[in-house]
Amino acid sequence: MAKRRSVEPVYSMCVQPSFIIGTNNEDGSANFAPITWVSVTHEEGDGYLLVISMAGTKRTKQNVLRTGIFSANLVSTDMLGLMDYFGSRHAADGKKDEIDYAVSRGAVLDVPVLDDSRWVYECEVSRSLETGDSTTFFCRIRNIQIDERLSCRDTFDVDLTVLDPVIYSGKYHSLGSMLGDIGDFL
Ligand SMILES: Cc1cc2nc3c(=O)[nH]c(=O)nc-3n(C[C@H](O)[C@H](O)[C@H](O)COP(=O)(O)O)c2cc1C
Repeated sequence: MAKRRSVEPVYSMCVQPSFIIGTNNEDGSANFAPITWVSVTHEEGDGYLLVISMAGTKRTKQNVLRTGIFSANLVSTDMLGLMDYFGSRHAADGKKDEIDYAVSRGAVLDVPVLDDSRWVYECEVSRSLETGDSTTFFCRIRNIQIDERLSCRDTFDVDLTVLDPVIYSGKYHSLGSMLGDIGDFL
């Protein structure tokens, strides 16, 4: 049995995935910022909704509120420099153009996409909910671009080791090994 102790409920650690969110600025230029408050849920029918929460008045949130669309670019460990850079600069202080990165447009939505990302969601806001200074967006996934090396047989068959994602807890981590499929441990 694990020996635990109680602590103040000040932690929000949920073993977060790392995504860099691409949005369109009012002048048509691209903006990117990391957001790790990201999850999914079902919508009516077979589709999924990406659930993403943004605090404060950051440009990324303003752009999503104004345009209703964005890209969510999964961060692999080779993109840590980009994530750290985008997360430590506020768009309000100037364009994030001090480092090199390649940008394309979405295949279905007119959103900026990072060429380095191995898994990209193109999303459209369906509804939103305010709590405190945060807005949580429930978003239709209109398209997914996945690394050509992935061969997924079904929605449960995604080998994360190919994606090599950055896992966030307040610190940056990488993934260990793939342990098996549902049912392997019964
Ligand atoms: C690792 C990391 C994770 C972050 N996750 C979130 C998040 O989940 N929600 C949020 O509102 N801000 C988050 N941020 C903060 C924004 O990325 C940060 O405020 C950024 O400067 C906003 O950029 P913008 O002004 O271009 O929107 C995170 C930052 C880092 C570095």
